[in-house]
Amino acid sequence: MDKFIIKGGYRLTGEVEISGAKNAALPLMSACLLTDKECLLEGIPYLKDIDTMGKLLTSFGSELERDKKGVMKIRTEKIKNYEAPYDLVRTMRASVLALGPLVGRYGVAKISMPGGCAIGDRPINLHINALKKMGAKIEQSHGYIIAKAKRLKGAKIYFDTQTVTGTENVIMAAVLAKGETIIENAAKEPEVVDLVNFLRKMGAKIEGEGTSIIRIEGVDNLSSASHKVIPDRIEAGTYIIAAAATCGNVLVKNCVMEHLDALEQKLVEAGVTIQKEKNGVRVIGKRETRSVDITTMPYPGFPTDLQAQFMAFMTIAKGLSVIRETIFENRFIHVSELKRMGADITIKDRNAIVKGVDELTGAPVMVSDLRAGAALVIAGLIAEGETEVLRIYHLDRGYEAMEKKLSKLGAKIKRLKE
Ligand code: EPU
Repeated sequence: MDKFIIKGGYRLTGEVEISGAKNAALPLMSACLLTDKECLLEGIPYLKDIDTMGKLLTSFGSELERDKKGVMKIRTEKIKNYEAPYDLVRTMRASVLALGPLVGRYGVAKISMPGGCAIGDRPINLHINALKKMGAKIEQSHGYIIAKAKRLKGAKIYFDTQTVTGTENVIMAAVLAKGETIIENAAKEPEVVDLVNFLRKMGAKIEGEGTSIIRIEGVDNLSSASHKVIPDRIEAGTYIIAAAATCGNVLVKNCVMEHLDALEQKLVEAGVTIQKEKNGVRVIGKRETRSVDITTMPYPGFPTDLQAQFMAFMTIAKGLSVIRETIFENRFIHVSELKRMGADITIKDRNAIVKGVDELTGAPVMVSDLRAGAALVIAGLIAEGETEVLRIYHLDRGYEAMEKKLSKLGAKIKRLKE
C-alpha cells in the first residue's frame, strides 16, 4: 500500500490541467455495451475505477483498446457473460451501471448486490424498481440481482430520491426499450447530460436531460459514436479549494466553471477571488478567509463530493461554519482525522460545526474514502509540519496523478510505500 508524505505550509501557484470526469467516463464506457459497433471515447482519465470498469467490460466480452492520450475504443460484438461478480462490484459500486445496458440490449443481467460503503448504506432499490416497471423479472439470490426481460417496455418512472447512477441506468435501459419512458425527479448532474449527449450520437431519442423530467423514445438499435468526456468538476473543485486554502494563485485549466456555480459562490463569500480567463479559471486565495455555511444537495446544489474538501478549508477560516450533509448519512468520517490535525469540529446529526482555528498541525491520518482522502491532502497542504496520509489507494480510484499535479504547483508531496 502507498502513502503520501506532505510537508505543509507552501502556497500552490502555477497551472493545473483537469482530467476527464471519472463519473462521466464510467457510464459512457458502460453505454458502449448498447451497440455491436465500435465506439471511441476521448479524455478517459487514468484511474483505478476506469481500470475496474475496463475489466468488467472485458469480462462481458467487450474489446477495449486504449492509447497513452486517453483515447479508448470499445467494441462489444458478442456478449459471453452477463455477470458482474462480487469481486469487481465490491471494489467499485459503479459496476451497477452495467445493469441497464445488459438487460436493455441482451435481456439478461446478473449483478452482485453492492454492499454497504464507507459513506453510507447506498441501496439500489430505485434502479431495481424502475426496471421492474419496465417489465424486467427480478430475482435476488446468493447476493446477486438477476434481471431478465425479452424486451423492456417504456414506463413512467418516478424517483423518490434523485439518483445519479439510477437515472443513468434507466436511461441506458430505456434507449432500446419498446415505447416511451418518462423519468420524473431525474438527476440533473452534468454527467447525466454527458451520457445523453453520447447516446444521442449513437442514435438514441432522448429529451429533457439536465431537467427533472427526461423522456426517452426507444429505438431498435444504436450505432457507433465518438465522444469527448467532460472535464471532472469534482477534481477541478478539489484543486480550486486547495488553491484557496493555501492562499495560492492557480490557473485551473480544462474546467467548466458553470458546473461549479455553488462552489464558486461559497468561495467568493469566503473571500476567495475567482476569475474566468481564456484558458481556465484563476483562483487567488487570501490569508484571512471568512467561514461560510454549506448544505450538500443534488446538482445544481453544493456537491456532496466536495463537502469534505470544503470542510478542510473551513478548519482555518475565521468564524463558525455549519456544514450540512443531506445526501449520504455517513459522510463525516474525515472529521475525526481532521480533529487529529487540530481542527475544532463538532458533529450534531447531519451537521458538522467547524470553528476556525489558527493552524492545523501535521499528523498521520487514514483515508476512508475517495473524497475524505482529498480533504486530508488539503489539510496536509495547509498544516504546519509533516502529514502522513495512509491508504491512498482510495485516492488513486478518482484522482489522476494527484501528487504530480500538486508537486507541479509547488506542494511538497511524496508517494512512498506504507
Ligand atoms: N439512493 C437510494 N436508492 C437508490 C439509489 C440511491 O435510496 O436506489 C439514495 C442514496 O442512498 C443517496 C441518494 O439516493 O442517499 C443519492 O445517491 P445516488 O444514487 O445519486 O449516488 P450514486 O449514483 O451511487 C453518484 C456518484 C457519487 C456521488 C453521488 C451523489 C458515480 C459513479 N458516483 O453515486 O460519487 O457522490 O452520485 O452525487 O457517479 C465519488 O465520486 O466519490 C462518489 C461517491
